[in-house]
Amino acid sequence: MLGVEPDAFLLAVPGSPTSYAKRAEVITGLPVDESRFATIIHPSVQLPPDCRIGFNCIIMPNVFISSNVTVGNHCVILPNTVISHDSVIGDYCCIGSNVSVSGSVNMGKGCYIGSGSRMREHVSIGAGSLVGLGSAVLKDIPEQVIAAGSPARVLKEITADGVKIQPDQYQPATG
Ligand SMILES: CC(C)(COP(=O)(O)OP(=O)(O)OC[C@H]1O[C@@H](n2cnc3c(N)ncnc32)[C@H](O)[C@@H]1OP(=O)(O)O)[C@@H](O)C(=O)NCCC(=O)NCCS
Repeated sequence: MLGVEPDAFLLAVPGSPTSYAKRAEVITGLPVDESRFATIIHPSVQLPPDCRIGFNCIIMPNVFISSNVTVGNHCVILPNTVISHDSVIGDYCCIGSNVSVSGSVNMGKGCYIGSGSRMREHVSIGAGSLVGLGSAVLKDIPEQVIAAGSPARVLKEITADGVKIQPDQYQPATG
């Protein structure tokens, strides 16, 4: 299809809590370079001029993004989520609806943030980790774990048998 429609743009972003880890493989396997990816931002979203949004991202209605926020490539942000000033969202992150990310939060690549979660300012979420629905993240979360609750605690590590993500797997797609 991409060959038949050489001028078409493509949007392929991370998905469900059970499949999010696989999307990086799919996207990096596509025979297209970054110029073929679209980024779609709903018209209700007003971006400050100092924000940076990567390619192949979708930002849904009523998301609020504050100043000096960076959103990497291949990210999805569901409705009504707030990303506060100076936060950095890594490539391949999926952030659910009604999430509140405080200022200066650092989210590694390939994270999945369950709907309704809240993150205290300055916390880090390690690459590949999943934060469960409705959690309150008050301390740093390591890489490759599932954490949930209020306050969020690590429930389990993500193993090779589960939804393991290799952080070095996240290379931007190239031609
Ligand atoms: C965190 C999550 C991945 C855990 O799923 P799981 O690995 O199947 O784990 P379980 O459901 O077996 O739960 C394990 C324990 O964690 C607890 N738990 C699970 N999710 C929790 C959450 N979000 N907050 C608090 N505790 C949670 C369970 O109560 C259970 O505790 P127990 O052992 O004392 O009974 C899942 O509950 C979750 O939140 N997924 C995200 C869903 C989401 O964001 N959907 C939005 C789609 S857009």
